[in-house]
Amino acid sequence: MDTQQMLYEGKGKKLFVTHNPDEVLVEFKDDLTAFNAEKKGSEQGKGALNCEISTAIFELLAQEGIQTHFLKKLDSNHMLCKKVEIIPIEVVVRNVATGSLTKRLGIEDGKVLPFALVEFYYKDDALGDPIINDEHCRILGITQDMSELDFLRAQARKINDVLSAFFIERKLRLIDFKLEFGKDSKGNILLADEISPDSCRFWDKDTNDKLDKDRFRQNLGSVKVAYEEVLKRILQK
Ligand code: TMP
Ligand code: ASP
Repeated sequence: MDTQQMLYEGKGKKLFVTHNPDEVLVEFKDDLTAFNAEKKGSEQGKGALNCEISTAIFELLAQEGIQTHFLKKLDSNHMLCKKVEIIPIEVVVRNVATGSLTKRLGIEDGKVLPFALVEFYYKDDALGDPIINDEHCRILGITQDMSELDFLRAQARKINDVLSAFFIERKLRLIDFKLEFGKDSKGNILLADEISPDSCRFWDKDTNDKLDKDRFRQNLGSVKVAYEEVLKRILQK
């Protein structure tokens, strides 16, 4: 792997070129970061868990007609993906108020929202990923085609419907999650990045125990155990 040229290193993953210009190799790292990387840590085996969890979720979404960048899992912490240009928007879907939403708007933590809230954040670490609306996207030149934002919203809602139903059958509440999308060489918009306990909040249906990266963010301990539990439940038939 290390002879290949690295295209990009993010907080949770590395991207490498492959012999095919339309494909990239994605390596899931064991690193954990929070609060725009002010808090850093590592959990051995976390990368492999996220790779396996993301694989299962991308496969599920593909079956439901959602186009994603995922091609195949190669080994414990590597997957082959279509090369995309990431749209610099983090699309967050919230079913239950927690995290930054409760802080920003004073909504009670744990309140079930009357409908799934879709938000856009500008993917820019230097600015701390600020929340933005459609007009900000246009002014920033992220897109001039407003129907693209409508498409992202519709995809996010469909993904939420599929995943919420899938997880509740496994006794997990999908509280909120973050998606990233990218454009392939033909201009198709594909779901990209990862879907894992790094990018989602999962609460146990019966106890509301947190089974996601909040265990790291809030120093709750047992981070890897929680990710293993999410994988175990995903693999349940
Ligand atoms: P927030 O409540 O901190 O805004 O997070 C909303 C959701 O987005 C939550 O599931 C965690 C996820 N998320 C990321 O994946 N990356 C990030 O950088 C942030 C801030 C949140
Ligand atoms: N992924 C972000 C970071 O490192 C924030 C988070 O997920 O809380 O810094």
